[in-house]
Amino acid sequence: MKTFYITTPIYYPSNKLHIGHSYTTVAADAMARYKRLRGYDVMFLTGTDEHGQKIERRANEEGLSPKAFLDNVVDWIKDLWNIMDISYDKFIRTTDLEHRQTVQKIFKKLYDKGEIYKSYYEGLYCTPCETFFTEHQLKEGKCPDCGRDVEKVKEEAYFFKLSKYQDKLIEYIETHPEFIQPPSRQNEMLNNFLRPGLEDLCVSRTSFSWGIPVEFDKGHIVYVWIDALSNYISALGFMSEDDTLFKKYWPADVQLIGKEILRFHTIIWPALLMALDEPLPKQVFAHGWLIIGGEKISKSKETAQKTIIDPSVLVKRYSSDALRYFLLREVAFGQDGNFTNEALINRINSDLANDLGNLASRTVAMIEKYFGTLPNDQEENEFDPSVRQIIAENVTIFEENMEKLHFNIALENIWTIIRRLNKYIDETMPWVLSKDEANKPKLAGVLYTLSEGLRIISIMIEPFMPNTPQKIWEQLGIVKGETTSWDTIHKWGTLNKNVTAKKGINIFPRIDKEKDLESLFSENSTPEVAKPSKKEEQPSKEEITIDDFAKVELKTGEVIECDKVPKADKLLVSKIKVGGEIRQIVSGIAKHYKPEEFVGKKVIVVTNLKPVKLRGILSEGMILCASDDEGNLVSIGPMEEIKSGSIVK
Ligand code: ME8
Ligand code: MG
Repeated sequence: MKTFYITTPIYYPSNKLHIGHSYTTVAADAMARYKRLRGYDVMFLTGTDEHGQKIERRANEEGLSPKAFLDNVVDWIKDLWNIMDISYDKFIRTTDLEHRQTVQKIFKKLYDKGEIYKSYYEGLYCTPCETFFTEHQLKEGKCPDCGRDVEKVKEEAYFFKLSKYQDKLIEYIETHPEFIQPPSRQNEMLNNFLRPGLEDLCVSRTSFSWGIPVEFDKGHIVYVWIDALSNYISALGFMSEDDTLFKKYWPADVQLIGKEILRFHTIIWPALLMALDEPLPKQVFAHGWLIIGGEKISKSKETAQKTIIDPSVLVKRYSSDALRYFLLREVAFGQDGNFTNEALINRINSDLANDLGNLASRTVAMIEKYFGTLPNDQEENEFDPSVRQIIAENVTIFEENMEKLHFNIALENIWTIIRRLNKYIDETMPWVLSKDEANKPKLAGVLYTLSEGLRIISIMIEPFMPNTPQKIWEQLGIVKGETTSWDTIHKWGTLNKNVTAKKGINIFPRIDKEKDLESLFSENSTPEVAKPSKKEEQPSKEEITIDDFAKVELKTGEVIECDKVPKADKLLVSKIKVGGEIRQIVSGIAKHYKPEEFVGKKVIVVTNLKPVKLRGILSEGMILCASDDEGNLVSIGPMEEIKSGSIVK
């Protein structure tokens, strides 16, 4: 049997998880379910990343031991995955004994092979915070966390020979275009990190204790990223007595991650695997971020409270199927997308209640009303061939899109079928046919086409909405089995002619948006969002002509480097690739973007602005941004792929 191994990142259980974590996990689950339906032997891994100083501190704040604190959060997470119908095969915790032992073995093996060596780590250390910082990270020369003085400290540490793998990694990425997905991320890694050069990586710490000790040098704790990345193979029993699963499933087929940890997964992780002489994962897929009010949702940001992003609240209110559908439908997988509670309700109403729900309830109601059970005598009509053709086409493209993890397009393929069938009802007008006894075979034919279409749809939605198919089957008298197996979506006519319908509950009731949002926010105590801001629109500027506008030269570009401007807490300096040239631009966006988050962004640049010096740094242009009156700011970029340096007009 063909195997399929898919992973999510292991999440930090420093807090409850939010809708962003659900996003990755739902995507992985949809893929895992899809592959199972297609007959693969699937291993779907998720879990938690439990070591490090931050967790240690969070536990302290709560007055608990790290383990007790973690057990609570992990229980909450497992409950969440349960109500979200996440069908993981294994849940790994980095505090699991087997994982800890494997990490120690990996570290030792790399040390014995000379891939890890002992040296000195030099850095700026904040004693109260027990944290090292680089010059860059300091805020006005002081600790960025507590504002106190830092001191230069030299401590013993182990290093991994990452630099040695620079050329090998470049070659690997260049010769394996499917390794980093989406493709736009390949150049980001090559140009921003690999080609400029890699330094050896410090892989042990002595400044905190909540972690895995280096077995042969107990004062040292294994650096959290080595600990975390190893989960993908320790979960399979790598280097343990029983490594059957490792032999069976490694290398992973798809490792899903958010784009902010791409560097760890496409540079450090493959280098470690190369050092261990193990094959690299076939694909690392970095999806975009769910954004709230212009910022990435994050456990630590207060903006999170302006929208309800606790997935458990949303599941209980709207159902797991609806939330799962929304997450994968709303945004192209790979790109960033806004998350709002309003958009979620809009999707439920338009796509689920209106399109799918209505198709099912109308079909079932008409069969019940006109026949109860469809007779054998069924006649085709002039619209049938086109319906069958749309279905056949979309089923095929759907499978291609699923293989590429293009979830939103795959769902669009299903909805093309749903909308075609709704239109078919209007075209064939069953209520008119029902008036004449002579038209009964025609009427039965129409209702069969609708039922058979629904059967095919119900199979296709299963990876996304695991609970809905059963509800549709019950109402159409379909029993899970041969007529619901994956292959049959290609076999029109699989459904028995004598469909017997039985009206059940409405699978997706419509939601009264205004009322619902009001109660959602009041019950979850976030009053400020319930009311949209009533401030006046910005006053308009004076009218201009097209010639005035044409004086501004705008081009698309891509941020390839970005740094803070020393001693200026609002400014970032970026290198922007605009077609063939590289521009240096200083912008006042440091409060809104971290330099590493800004790298890779597609932007629009004013390229004929007179260069100026800001804080002594040359700025050759301007990056377009939008900002609102609440102090939110986002940079503006092209909505689809287009060559860098393209004219914007
Ligand atoms: O980074 N939009 O854990 P983490 C989309 N422990 N996805 C989001 C998101 C958002 N706003 N916020 C989080 C860690 N995610 C490490 C990983 S792996 C060996 C170690 C998702 O708790 C996305 O998958 O910060 C992102 O990569 C992950 O959660 C980060 O979770
Ligand atoms: Mg994070």
